[in-house]
Amino acid sequence: MSNSTGNSQSAGSSIAAGSESAAEGNHEGATTTYAGKSAAVDQLNLAPATRVVSAGRPIKGEDAGVNAGIDLNSTFHAPGEIGYGRYGNSTWSALESAIQSLEGGKTLVFSSGMAAISAVLSLLPKGAVIVASKNGYAGTMSVMQRAQAAGTLELRLVDISNTEEVLQEIKGAMLLWIESPTNPALEVADLPTIIAAAKSLNVGVAVDNTFATPLLQQPIAMGADMVIHSLTKYISGHSDVILGSISTPDEALYARLSDVRKLGGAIPGPFETWITLRGLRTLSVRMERAQANALELALRLSTHPAVEKVRYPGLPTDAHHDRAKSFMKGFGAVISFDVKGGPEAADKACASSELVTFATSLGGVESLWERRHRWSAESPLIPAQLVRLSVGIEDVEDLWRDIDQALRASQA
Ligand SMILES: Cc1ncc(COP(=O)(O)O)c(C=O)c1O
Repeated sequence: MSNSTGNSQSAGSSIAAGSESAAEGNHEGATTTYAGKSAAVDQLNLAPATRVVSAGRPIKGEDAGVNAGIDLNSTFHAPGEIGYGRYGNSTWSALESAIQSLEGGKTLVFSSGMAAISAVLSLLPKGAVIVASKNGYAGTMSVMQRAQAAGTLELRLVDISNTEEVLQEIKGAMLLWIESPTNPALEVADLPTIIAAAKSLNVGVAVDNTFATPLLQQPIAMGADMVIHSLTKYISGHSDVILGSISTPDEALYARLSDVRKLGGAIPGPFETWITLRGLRTLSVRMERAQANALELALRLSTHPAVEKVRYPGLPTDAHHDRAKSFMKGFGAVISFDVKGGPEAADKACASSELVTFATSLGGVESLWERRHRWSAESPLIPAQLVRLSVGIEDVEDLWRDIDQALRASQA
């Protein structure tokens, strides 16, 4: 990494070494992180669709549970690996070993996607330059913009799908923050190219992989230093939990992030962790069905008289289609579109649906939609009449009937 001090370490390791070492930061307790005791299946020889089902299960044995338990302990008999409930938990370890078998590296679960994002940003030294998409998730953007306003970070906002612009702006940066596809503009970054370029310049790379999930792209295998998830979305998949994660192949970074979780206290509840692991088991079939529905709905929306523009990388006519096809294993299940008649018509459409729920969030089994600009934090670059539709796994004809009637109602 080239930073203002001319230090040429990789950003991953320089972030990891940025303040006190993990050992020094481990103020209480004998160990850093509970290693977990999950089944010794060689997950790497299995397809991802199998790993979502089989990873993170307890070791097989007579009367051993088939599933990890909900570990409600706040403290543990000493001496031992865990020590205290803020340092480790066997339910966390089960989910972590499942996610790391999909993303690569080692995983830490956090109390929310935002807690995971804040943990990463907390590692950056004062004045660090971070390059990020100007169309990223509004919460991420707000945290970064506040850090910039407070003088702790220097933020360079880019069009993450414009490879030349990204390559230009990462020079001298400490961290490239990628969200792809972006929320809600659904722009696709050229991940293989920009990750490789960042690595060659020793710029650290963090990828928010929430929209794609590890089933569609695996940034660590492309060289990323960190993969962040809002597990709240596809991985848990049922709109009933808030949770986040960070995966990293860098041991020193892992140790520092583990320390941030331990001392910052943004720890997940054991029940939330367990229910996320339960949701993960069906990720592959949910994604298959939701993506098939999304493609069909995107095609139909493209010719709907109440719709001006559809953004969905799965559409052959979409500006990001060819790129997405070149390295992603699917196009996801979020569609954004502009409703004719402006924000009032878009609001009317969202309020007129009966099956599709008018609500924020995405990645659940049920379809949800909303006009993004009903949130004041949404970027001014996002059109006022843009509706984000998270496509669920319902029958596609039922969905279309409802969407069609709601859109027609919006024009009345
Ligand atoms: C892409 C993306 N990243 C991160 C987050 C934040 O995650 P959480 O709501 O779990 O804190 C969201 C939430 O919508 C998101 O869409």
